[in-house]
Amino acid sequence: MRNVPFARPIIGAEEKQAVAKVLEGDTLVHGPVAKEFEKKFAQYTKAPHAISVSSCTAGLHLAYFYLGIKPGDEVIVPAQTHVATVHAVELCGGKPIFVDAEINTGNIDISQIEKAITPKTKALSVVHYLGMPVDMPKVMAIAKKHNLFVVEDCALAIGTKYDGIHAGLFGDVGTFSFYPVKHITTAEGGMMILKDDAMAKKLTFQKAFGVDRTPSERVVPGVYDVIMLGFNYRMNEIEAALGIEQLKRIDGFLKTRKRNYEALEKHLKEVDEVQLFQSSHGPFESSYYCLSVILKGNLSKKRTQVLTSLKELGVGSSVYYPQAVHQFSYYKNKYHYADNAFPVASLISDTSVALPVGPHLNEEDVNYVADSLKQVIQKLKRG
Ligand SMILES: Cc1ncc(COP(=O)(O)O)c(C=O)c1O
Repeated sequence: MRNVPFARPIIGAEEKQAVAKVLEGDTLVHGPVAKEFEKKFAQYTKAPHAISVSSCTAGLHLAYFYLGIKPGDEVIVPAQTHVATVHAVELCGGKPIFVDAEINTGNIDISQIEKAITPKTKALSVVHYLGMPVDMPKVMAIAKKHNLFVVEDCALAIGTKYDGIHAGLFGDVGTFSFYPVKHITTAEGGMMILKDDAMAKKLTFQKAFGVDRTPSERVVPGVYDVIMLGFNYRMNEIEAALGIEQLKRIDGFLKTRKRNYEALEKHLKEVDEVQLFQSSHGPFESSYYCLSVILKGNLSKKRTQVLTSLKELGVGSSVYYPQAVHQFSYYKNKYHYADNAFPVASLISDTSVALPVGPHLNEEDVNYVADSLKQVIQKLKRG
């Protein structure tokens, strides 16, 4: 039987050598490698500034902290996303105000944003769901009209562009994830990209305790001042070394993802029982994180069997995301939203199956994924 995992990091000799080189030296944190990774990431995305962080979640938290989100403030968030998007607001004491998803892309339903805005709204968060860009000109027009900050959750959006501009460069800040299943990995890690010089400077202090000088900048060893409140959200040199080598592969990775996505999409377009999300078209350029299908009709009630049957056939699948955020116990207990308050977000969580398209798949793997899903659907239709 074939084994096609949902995701698999691709770590080569170059990554191992780069990590070994860091380990052979004396500098594991605060060194030149993280700075170099930031420079390379800024070049790749054409961002004025890139700031490495310990995870995407850390970057999102830092973003709201910098923007001054505090108790009493409201932040618009998509109901369909990873919980980190919303936790970042909660961690600052802000109140998340959920907006439903739209069914064609899984992205936030822009037509519903304005009615969620109140005098307390300070910021608006968007997530490029599975790497498909949100219509950022529309979002930015709303933000401008209501004077709101915009935070882009780009966890799955390396390579995502709108009209040739990289995701993360429309709002005040965009934050990426390098967790192992992502487009490139540093094991744990993240990167913030932004345009504002003063913001970049302050975030660099805030991600490192608010300390005014790094060890190498200290004239008197061990002596420093703390000029603001801050976290320990730095990326270390080992992670950064991995990131530099991974970033060298990104164009190839994205090309293979697109090829795999389009091949799988072609197979699945013929299947009546599933509905596909929209992918790249016109100015919208996806990063092809995975191919998620929505199960239709009777099949929608058999999602668990679809996931487990695929597993039995050696096909790794996943769910993005397993519950709409307002339905997770923590949010449900705190805010008491009705389960069906955001029906599209819930429908996606309850009835979708995410299939692999990563660079670890070759053409035969893609065919196998498609055939396996078709086989599972036929079996479940009969049963
Ligand atoms: C949309 C989104 N935001 C944030 C995160 C969290 O990223 P990290 O694990 O780097 O903190 C994820 C993780 O999958 C995600 O999918």
